[in-house]
Amino acid sequence: MKKDISFVFSSEYIISTHKEYREAHLLDGFIAYEDGETAGVLLFSEDGGECELVYLHSLREGKGIAKRLIKRLIEYTQDNRISRLYVVTTNDNITALKLYQQVGFRIKTVYPDAMDRVRQKKPMIPKVGNHGIPLRDLIELDFVMKK
Ligand SMILES: CC(C)(COP(=O)(O)OP(=O)(O)OC[C@H]1O[C@@H](n2cnc3c(N)ncnc32)[C@H](O)[C@@H]1OP(=O)(O)O)[C@@H](O)C(=O)NCCC(=O)NCCS
Repeated sequence: MKKDISFVFSSEYIISTHKEYREAHLLDGFIAYEDGETAGVLLFSEDGGECELVYLHSLREGKGIAKRLIKRLIEYTQDNRISRLYVVTTNDNITALKLYQQVGFRIKTVYPDAMDRVRQKKPMIPKVGNHGIPLRDLIELDFVMKK
């Protein structure tokens, strides 16, 4: 039986650059535990040899939980001969942009104003995001695979 992780979601409907995930809790993933409690969740989707890191949430910020989960996913992609690992985040998510680049991702494509399209489907998404930054763009980062 899958562990119930629905309490971590503000919405189960996740819109990416080229894909949409309607029932996020059905995706594969990893859970980090600390002191017997759920401390973080990472979900991913594999398709045609490519893997998208779809969802990452830390319940105990600044303690290395997210880094641990991403490193676990990197190991998984290496063990399973996945040719591409990528993640999509928003232009206001400075912490995520820092974190992904620290662990070996590089910005690949910026989709200016992509949040307008996302907002058509999820009108509740605010116009202003973290740190008072206008929430406008999607940014795709690829993990740089070792040759
Ligand atoms: C982004 C997120 C997953 C980071 O999780 P985390 O467990 O705190 O990350 P880590 O502890 O592994 O830290 C990674 C880096 O980010 C820094 N960091 C973490 N939280 C931070 C915050 N609120 N503000 C500034 N820096 C922060 C850490 O200090 C660390 O940097 P360092 O190694 O230079 O010290 C977490 O903040 C979160 O769940 N955010 C909401 C959901 C989200 O934005 N997910 C990503 C969507 S693509």
